[in-house]
Amino acid sequence: MEFDLVVRGGTIATAADTYRADIGIRGGRIVAIADTLTAPRMIDADGLLVLPGGIDSHVHIEQPGTDGSMTADDFESGTRAAACGGTTTIMPFALQTAGQSLRESADAYRRRADGKALIDFAIHLIIADPTAQILGQDLPALIRDGYTSFKVYMTYDDLKLDDRQMLDVLAFARREGAMTMIHAENADCISWLTARLAAAGKSAPRFHCASRPGPVEREATHRAVSLAELLDVPMLLVHVSGREAVDEIRRAQARGLRVYAETCPQYLFLAEDDLAVAGFRGAMAVCSPPPRERGNQTAIWDALTTGVFQVFSSDHSPYRYEDSRGKMVAGPNAPFWKIPNGVPGIETRMPLLFDGVSKGRITLQQFVALTATNPARIYGLSGRKGTVAIGADADLALWDPGRERVIRNADLHHDVDYTPYEGIAVKGWPVHVLSRGEIVVRDGQPQDRKGHGRFLRCDLPEAARPLGAGSLPAGLV
Ligand code: URP
Ligand code: ZN
Ligand code: ZN
Repeated sequence: MEFDLVVRGGTIATAADTYRADIGIRGGRIVAIADTLTAPRMIDADGLLVLPGGIDSHVHIEQPGTDGSMTADDFESGTRAAACGGTTTIMPFALQTAGQSLRESADAYRRRADGKALIDFAIHLIIADPTAQILGQDLPALIRDGYTSFKVYMTYDDLKLDDRQMLDVLAFARREGAMTMIHAENADCISWLTARLAAAGKSAPRFHCASRPGPVEREATHRAVSLAELLDVPMLLVHVSGREAVDEIRRAQARGLRVYAETCPQYLFLAEDDLAVAGFRGAMAVCSPPPRERGNQTAIWDALTTGVFQVFSSDHSPYRYEDSRGKMVAGPNAPFWKIPNGVPGIETRMPLLFDGVSKGRITLQQFVALTATNPARIYGLSGRKGTVAIGADADLALWDPGRERVIRNADLHHDVDYTPYEGIAVKGWPVHVLSRGEIVVRDGQPQDRKGHGRFLRCDLPEAARPLGAGSLPAGLV
């Protein structure tokens, strides 16, 4: 058989096993995995780990806020940075903007990637207004076009749904077989606490944590689980941060519910003291839910190793620090409730977690599952993405497991003026990255592959299928 390219002599790792073999690539796909393959073009992978390219299933690219803020990266810088960190698929969110239909918003958002993306991308929708028109007509048509997952919020004034609306959305997801992603924090608790903190003059960035403590996340997590249980519909809790929420999820999973959960690097590597630095610089670590006390990081690592989490995403939500559309949108000393929420992390997501492999905290198979194989399964990309197998796209990241590196913003490729992980030393970094057989990163350097990335239509995931009939009378949902 003839190949366009062979990856020679590497050690392949999937979510199931690790073995030595060559990989033959033709037409952008993996067509052979065998002992000794040759082709006119070869990549020497001797001493490297050959992993499926990562899927970062939760990123915010070119997402405007109602306060005048704008996330920093566009599809070019965002996908370049993603690729340099070993990711070959990103999944950002199309946000319905005022006066636009969901369809117009999705189409306009997708066009932003034209000619820019270096790697493939799928798009989640954000549902902030689940009207009969949207759930009855717009969304079913979008699902048929490959937008099979959507996020709903239990907090943020401009986005939050009440319980009745949450039930409407979950019932819809059950009927259609789509995946609901839930941001679980109790909005009333947050506004009550914020008002009291404001009245007490506690407005510095560090009080962001006090406005959204663990029980605020736990209550909403419990409520989200209960609503999904009522309707017997799978769902995924995004960016889970605290041990209290983890306990709720563990209990739900132990009862046999299809509750999936995602966590992010900020809950393994940041803590509330990162918001308590002098001046306004704590704004750099303001995200929601917030980082917790240092000891909580161990609870999140434990939940990763014991299988509570299926997905490890970045929640890359990049706001430049010194920027009037970024962290300083409300001024250089704004109260914490006016600071745009989010931290950058698209390039550092996989190296930070890989360091957990180097230190023996998680296995290589868990790493692959969390960063690539599970997100493919949960969002309808199985077979194409997230694994090294014949027939799959040749999306590969060749890692040097011994490469030691100190994270410095100056070395990263995102369009942000800081990283919250500055100075953290990690072991293991991707050297070469392939997207559908094209080399998008060579020797750690991004290649000129702008426009190579394509829109991915997601299938309806098996993971979103209800397990039983639910506890409600037949025909009600
Ligand atoms: O602080 C965060 N996580 N910002 C991004 C938006 C979201 O809720 O995911
Ligand atoms: Zn969120
Ligand atoms: Zn997010």
